[in-house]
Amino acid sequence: MDKKVTVIGAGNVGATAAQRLAEKELCDVVLIDIVEGVPQGKALDLTEAAPIEKHDAHIKGFNSYEASAGSDIVIITAGIPRKPGMSRDDLIGTNAGIVKNVTKQVAAFSPDAVIIIVSNPLDAMCHVAFEASGFPKNRVIGMAGVLDSARFRAFIAMELNVSVENTHAFVLGGHGDTMVPLPRYSTVAGIPITELLSKEKIAALVKRTASGGAEIVSLLKTGSAYYAPASAAVEMAESILKDKKKILPCAAYLEGEYGINGLFIGVPVKLGAKGIEEIIQIKLTGEEQAALKKSADSVAELKTVLKKLGV
Ligand code: NAI
Ligand code: 2OP
Repeated sequence: MDKKVTVIGAGNVGATAAQRLAEKELCDVVLIDIVEGVPQGKALDLTEAAPIEKHDAHIKGFNSYEASAGSDIVIITAGIPRKPGMSRDDLIGTNAGIVKNVTKQVAAFSPDAVIIIVSNPLDAMCHVAFEASGFPKNRVIGMAGVLDSARFRAFIAMELNVSVENTHAFVLGGHGDTMVPLPRYSTVAGIPITELLSKEKIAALVKRTASGGAEIVSLLKTGSAYYAPASAAVEMAESILKDKKKILPCAAYLEGEYGINGLFIGVPVKLGAKGIEEIIQIKLTGEEQAALKKSADSVAELKTVLKKLGV
């Protein structure tokens, strides 16, 4: 393949993302993990599936970064996931150090890459990667809104018994309890869901979306979701690799947009070859703007925690 994507962290999200990237023949994949044998073993297993899956993407696993050199995109999933009873924010102490070290190596070997952050707590980890990489803001992007919107879309399709392909949804804000699903901008075949579902039903779907990650954690018990998160990260990567210029909700560094300054927060962006090519500013009601501000305040609190941790 003429494109190269490195995935850091060969765990549940990372290995599944590698599989989806290869099976879509988007790029060659370099899989890196700190545990010896795991990225090598998973890469070999995926390679042995290639004749059956009918793709010619090369997948290789490593414990060091040399083979990642010159990557077009690096997806960072390294870190620990949460267990039942934990919030995403409880991961900050462990994951901040991991993401900082990983990002420094990524930036040294792939200075022109676009970084997609997956590790949690997502918005705070974007800050860590932004500072550790020294990359411009268009090349450090957080994955959360695509996942949260996909969950909202799945719940809308289940409720109305329609094809998921007919659904569209937007979830903005931080990737936590304060995320902001926007029913006014969520549609089925172009029809706003506010015209198809009662207020009470919409409120229930919004609540389920906001706790969508916790719902999976409480079922799995040993980790968190990975199939949908991997799909979300790969949709972002595809838009960048193919310069598709899709408008997707992603964590982006804001400098005044939506009245927010100096924070990574989920907003609609245009994703193309340069990474974030535009931050789309949609009109919000007073209530929606207040919810976004509340979400931004919780991200700002995590930034303060990072300072205290010295990261
Ligand atoms: P996992 O535990 O299956 O995989 C994490 C991998 O990172 C492990 O293989 C581990 O060995 C590796 N790792 C740890 N330190 C490393 C280092 N210094 N260098 C390279 N690799 C290292 O966890 P999973 O389920 O894949 O989740 C990964 C992260 O993504 C978690 O923090 C999780 O909370 C987050 N996540 C975020 C989502 C989002 O919407 N942004 C969705 C799903 C997961
Ligand atoms: C999720 O929403 C754990 O953040 C991850 O599933």
